[in-house]
Amino acid sequence: MKAKGKVIFFGEHAVVYGYTALSLPINLSTNVNIKKNDNLVIELKNLNKKLGFEEAKKDKDFRYVIKAIELLKVKEPFFLSVSSELPVSCGLGSSASVVVATIRALSKFFNLNLPKKEIAKLSHRVEREVQGKASITDTYTISYERALKIRNNEFSFIDEFEKTVREEKLYIAYVEEREMKTADLIKVVSEKEEKEEIFKEIEEITREALSSDVERIKELMLENHKLLDKLGVSTKGLNRVVRLAKKFGCGAKLTGAGGGGCVIILGDLNEEEKELIEKIVKSLYLA
Ligand code: PMV
Repeated sequence: MKAKGKVIFFGEHAVVYGYTALSLPINLSTNVNIKKNDNLVIELKNLNKKLGFEEAKKDKDFRYVIKAIELLKVKEPFFLSVSSELPVSCGLGSSASVVVATIRALSKFFNLNLPKKEIAKLSHRVEREVQGKASITDTYTISYERALKIRNNEFSFIDEFEKTVREEKLYIAYVEEREMKTADLIKVVSEKEEKEEIFKEIEEITREALSSDVERIKELMLENHKLLDKLGVSTKGLNRVVRLAKKFGCGAKLTGAGGGGCVIILGDLNEEEKELIEKIVKSLYLA
């Protein structure tokens, strides 16, 4: 069973303080396959690891899968294999994607017929139990596979916004590894004196984006990026990619917590432009 990844399109960081964020599912996915087996064995293909349940419990890399299996209280043994197209720790929701794909695969294998709502709830619980704290953004966007507006940990669907954005090509540039974790970047922001004013500006941008056409959305992305830079969560590398994308007539901004990671680029790039961007990033995906 597959599960997608996600990007935050507008409003990251501000959302932590009760403002609005808009998220979107992306077409890079995690695949989880389950088949009958005499013992419970888990394979993480990307990491080249295969362990029995008891050994896997001691390995941090397996904790999301283990927690999902434990939560569903399934008894019979099986062989579960995870592979993913999503780069890890760069704001694309790779952990949530693994959790949702695992729960979907378990639900199918054991005929549990879990509805989307239940899968979203269970996945969020897994993330919370593994991480200690987690907003619903990743697990809900990925479980419902729909764009969401998130505010105070409540969500609504924003299909019109997704439709507008999808009029254009959406690229994800994986620029660089993150130097800091999400929690550390949230702390950087919390120490910014002018954060409330910046959040209010971000909120205005986010709200305007919801009812804008795609050309205006591109401009608003650039404005949101500037404000994230002001908050101290952008990097030279991210700014460079955003500048280049802007020069090519696209909208662009960092996505997620920042401190490295990914830039989303909205707009058409010709072969030459793509190559120029590819030269300064780790990878460029069409999402
Ligand atoms: O980069 P990510 O996927 O960890 O996203 C973090 C987004 C924040 O707004 C900074 C935190 C959050 O929980 O919404």
